[in-house]
Parts: sequence; C-alpha cells; structure tokens
Amino acid sequence: MEQAVDKHKQHQFHHHTREFWSSRIALILAMAGNAIGLGNFLRFPVKAAQNGGGAFMIPYFIALVFLGIPLLWVEWAMGRFGGRYRHGTTPGIFYRMWNNRFIKYVGAIGVVMPVIICIYYNYIESWTLSYSFFSLFNKYTGVTTREGMGTFLASYQGRVPSEYFSNIWTAYAFFVLTLAINVYVLRKGVVKGIEVLAKWGLPLLFFFGVILVIRVFTLGTPDPAYPDRNILNGLAYMWNPDFSRLKDSSCWLAAAGQIFFTLSVGFGAIQTYASYLKEKDDVALSGLSACSLNEFAEVILGGSIAIPVAIAFFGLSETQAIAKGGAFDLGFQALPIVFQKLHFGSIFGFLWFFLLFIAGITSSVALSQPAMAFLQDELRMPLKKAANLVGAVLFIGGTMVVFFLRYGFLDELDFWAGTVGLVAFAFIETVLFAWIFGMDKGWHEINLGADINLSRIFYYIIKYVTPLYLLVLLVTWFCQDGIAVLFMKGVPQENVPYLWGARALMAALLITGFVLIKLAWKQHREAGRLP
Ligand code: TRP
Repeated sequence: MEQAVDKHKQHQFHHHTREFWSSRIALILAMAGNAIGLGNFLRFPVKAAQNGGGAFMIPYFIALVFLGIPLLWVEWAMGRFGGRYRHGTTPGIFYRMWNNRFIKYVGAIGVVMPVIICIYYNYIESWTLSYSFFSLFNKYTGVTTREGMGTFLASYQGRVPSEYFSNIWTAYAFFVLTLAINVYVLRKGVVKGIEVLAKWGLPLLFFFGVILVIRVFTLGTPDPAYPDRNILNGLAYMWNPDFSRLKDSSCWLAAAGQIFFTLSVGFGAIQTYASYLKEKDDVALSGLSACSLNEFAEVILGGSIAIPVAIAFFGLSETQAIAKGGAFDLGFQALPIVFQKLHFGSIFGFLWFFLLFIAGITSSVALSQPAMAFLQDELRMPLKKAANLVGAVLFIGGTMVVFFLRYGFLDELDFWAGTVGLVAFAFIETVLFAWIFGMDKGWHEINLGADINLSRIFYYIIKYVTPLYLLVLLVTWFCQDGIAVLFMKGVPQENVPYLWGARALMAALLITGFVLIKLAWKQHREAGRLP
C-alpha cells in the first residue's frame, strides 16, 4: 500500500512538477559546491605563482568584476527564468528567450559540453579518492623523491609499469567506484542527493581546509640546513607582487581563464542549478554569496596550502620547476613527499586528498545535472532512468579516457570543451541575454526578488564590457593556441588517431544532442506544451 502511494507520488512528481531547493542555505552551499573544485586548490595556486604572485590578483579581480560576477548573474537569472517554463537547460531556456527555430540547437552546447568535461573530470576526481586511501594506508611511504612519486603516478595511470603498480586496473577500479558514487547521488535527485551532499560536504571541506592551513602556517623552517626554505618565504613567494608580469598579455589571459574555470561559468551547469529556484527567489545576493565562498576557498585556502608548503620543503627553484609541470605535479607528486616528513603525515595526506575529492564530487554532480535535467524536463524521463543513462554515457566515455590517457585523449577533450568551448558559449549567451532577449528585460530578471540593490553600472557592464571582453579573449586564445591544436601541430604521430577519436566522441555527443532536441520538441508540440 505504502509502495503504491509512493509510486503515485513519484508519478505526479515527474509529470507535473519539478524539484526546488529546500532552503536558501542549501542553494548557496550547492552552488558553492558546484564552483569549488580542483581548480581552487590546484589550478589557482599554480596560475598565480606563475603569473606574478600578488600582482596576479589585479587582473584576477578585474576579470572577477567585469567577467565573472556579471556572467554569474546572467546565468542565475537565465536559469530561474527557464525554470518558470519547466526548462532546466539551455536548449529550452534559449528557446524561451528568443523565438527562433534554431536557437535551441545552439543550446545543445550547454548540455553536451558539461557531459564532455564530466567524462574526464570524474577520472581526475578518482585519483583524489585513491590517493586519500594511499595516504591513509601508507601506500607511497618510502617514495621520497619527486621523480619517484612521478613514477608512482605514471604507473598508477598505466603509462609505465613499476614496482608500485604493474597495470592500470587499480586506477580503473577507483574510476568505476567514483562514478558509482556520482550516480548514486544523481539517482536521489536534487534535494535528497545534491543538497545533502553539499550540506555535509562543504562544511567538511572548509574544516579540512582550515586544519591544513593551520598546519602549513606552523611549519616554520622544516629543515634547519636550509634556513631560507621556510613558510614565510613560501607565503612571500605566493603573494609578493611582481608587477612587471602585468605587461604580459598571457598574465591577463590566465587570470580570465581562471575566473571562468573556478566560477564554473560558461558551462551550462549554473543555469541548471538556478532553474530549481522559485520564481521570485533572489538571485543577486545568493549569486554573490556563493561566489564569495568560492573566492574564500580559492584565494585564502587554495593560496595558502600547496605553493607555500612546496617552497618550505623544496625551496624556490625546485618549486618553480614543479609548478612548470602543472597543477597535478604539485598536488600528486610534490605534496605526498612533504606529508611523509610530517608527524601524522598519513592523516594530513588523507585530509588533503579527501578535501580534493569533496571539492571534486560536488563539482562533478553539477556537471552531470544539465544532462539529467534535459532528460527529465524535455524528454519526461523518470529520475532514476535518467541517472542510469547519464551514468552509462560517463562510463563509456570515461573508460576511453582511462585507457587512452597517454595518447593525449583527455587533453584534447579539455582543450575544446574546457578551454575554448566555454568562452565561446559564454559569448553566445551574453549576446543572447543582453542584445536579443534585451538588456532591459534582462536587468529586470536579475533584479526580480533581489535582496540587494545592484548598481546600474552593471547594466552597462553586462551589455557592453562583458561581451567585448569575451570576444577579445576568444580571438586571442584561438590565435595563440587554437590553430596549433586544431591542426595537431607537434603531436606525435601515434597520438593522431586517438585525438581524432576524441573529436569523434565530442561530435557524436553533439549530434545526439541535436537529435534528442528535435525529438523532444516534436513531443512538446504534440502534447500542446509549446506556445
Ligand atoms: N569550478 C570547478 C573547479 O574549480 C570546475 C568546473 C569548471 C566546473 N566548470 C564547471 C564544475 C562546471 C561544475 C560545473 O574545479
């Protein structure tokens, strides 16, 4: 009997209503979880240290004000607007913003791109989970050089066999486990899944972060033989401004790129979360609050852990060499060596990698949610079925990423979807919002139900500055890197077929998106759901 009632409820739920966030705090935590990811703790410190330290904060905050925050408001407002018409993704949202037959197909990007990113993000996330266990159970104890940890990671990833891992199956098992946890959360839906994850995860993440920062600040001079390798020099290296770097356009590009990445704008993921808002819920202040939590996690926590620690233990020149190798070298090679030198190092190692895992999983469910919402809203698919289907796609794509990693498969997906795609998409949606939907209507949407008064300056910023800024970024990026990547310049011959494979996968997903949109709109029309 109870079951029958449940069934009935579920039936009603899927066919008549959508979910809503259960409270404002839940919404803000979920949105912060969406934004706070590996980018805050690994990507940010490396970018800042490479691009002038404290001076990096100037182009960074300029990009935050003229690009990041305006885009946040635009995406939150668009999402809530779409939710009013039962659309949680950009095909439907664009369709309601502009009465044009083709615009819904452009919106496909806002569903397919996050899926592509999620395909490889889940794999990286699984490394943080496995390394939490490796730390706790002393799997890498005794590997005391950076080269050694490099081999450890490479053999874990199946690039080279070593005494640590003879094959890729450990990595694959952790990938499958990570994906299973993600699908478990998705199957519970927005309130019981994503919200619960954020309500537990975010406080835990901040707690772990603060413990780590305290430990870092009390490091002093770890090795008396090297008096200049100390924590003060570490913080000084991170934050002393080198203003000469500001003359370099790459510094400005890096700052803008980091703002995009960290705030999760330009992906379609924020619109989906915002579509679970009620019609008159505030977006202006909630958007800013989620953004502040992200900036705290990034600049204060992210800026105080990885780089200062590396300086205190490895010194300046070696840290610079590590940072050149990128964010992963810092997190997965350098820090495990440091943990071995600390008392309770396996606990601190666990805290670090598990913090990354929480940061990762609250982002990967956000990357999956547009596809979930599309299947539920537009194709009227039940929740669990949608989660299984999304899980299957992530599993197939992710398996390719795991096994083709060494041929540059992941980097190819990351370049098109994670670097260029989002800037292009952000440009399209800003123009659509400010110029086609119209800035007066747009401004009204942003201010509807707002709990703060926004300065009208932002009306003009969104209308003129943000689109122009995006256009400049897009053109510069395309000329600097795009052409080389497009024609696969300098790529080893054996990688070429895999890179084409990655492109074929992206094309196949996009075409599937188009077909499903066509199908969905046919069904909407037949059911009389369209105006
Ligand atoms: N912001 C996340 C980070 O800092 C990564 C990310 C980028 C993301 N775009 C996203 C997460 C879209 C969820 C949705 O690591």
